[in-house]
Amino acid sequence: MSPLVYLCLFVCITLIHSTKTAEIQNAVGNATGFRPHVHKYLVLLRIYDDGAGFLCSGSIIDKEWIISAAHCFAKHQYRKIKIIRKIDSNEHVLGFVSKYANHPKFDITKGSKTAKYDLALLKTRKPIQLSEFIKPIALARLGAFGQKGIIAGYASKTPLEGAVVVNRCKWAPSDDGLLCSPYWAYAQNGDSGGALTTSNGLVGVISLRVGSETVYVNISLHFDYIQKVTGKKLHKK
Ligand SMILES: *[C@@H]1O[C@H](CO)[C@@H](O)[C@H](O)[C@H]1NC(C)=O
Ligand SMILES: *[C@@H]1O[C@H](CO)[C@@H](O)[C@H](O)[C@H]1NC(C)=O
Repeated sequence: MSPLVYLCLFVCITLIHSTKTAEIQNAVGNATGFRPHVHKYLVLLRIYDDGAGFLCSGSIIDKEWIISAAHCFAKHQYRKIKIIRKIDSNEHVLGFVSKYANHPKFDITKGSKTAKYDLALLKTRKPIQLSEFIKPIALARLGAFGQKGIIAGYASKTPLEGAVVVNRCKWAPSDDGLLCSPYWAYAQNGDSGGALTTSNGLVGVISLRVGSETVYVNISLHFDYIQKVTGKKLHKK
């Protein structure tokens, strides 16, 4: 890696969880608006700490489990984590998190500066009431690189989505298990833990942003881990 790339890694990494609201923006257009019927799994996580609290995003993968990013839960004990489905200005509380597991290999000391193993599994206090509008998403393998995907998150006051193309991260060693989308849409504050989907299902969890490139955890490398923690097989073959 060239020194320039390293420099960029330090300078350009953007924390994408914070108390601020921001939104998935389209670098070059491609705005599609948000289709709630497509993203029935997407939830907003309102995390109450001893301060003002902050927001992250997550995906329902089972009526008792949500997948999100470990750096959202890296700092301290939380008083309460509320699971919300919000469409337009209508906020619907789906429940609360009873416990969460950050991936054991996630380097908590690096917080939101590393995307490696940036995965968290959240167990709900009670099963989420599923409906025609609220449904889990299956975990899927990414097909060929260069495949089209959709990024969705709750950074904005309302959820947003944008079209992306999924690739390797040129700057990351391949065993980091990360995916990158250099364009067209990219994640912002609060989208952390949000979703990268293809027509197959959920393929990535939004971790951080390097410049205008969004970085995701490649979920398919963690199927066994997710099955071990949840006790359920939630991935497609
Ligand atoms: C997104 O915008 C780029 C540049 O304008 C264009 O080349 C591309 O086809 C667009 N993609 C989609 C999915 O609309
Ligand atoms: C993502 O995981 C799959 C295994 O299911 C693997 O084939 C692919 O190469 C991985 N991609 C990266 C960039 O790690």
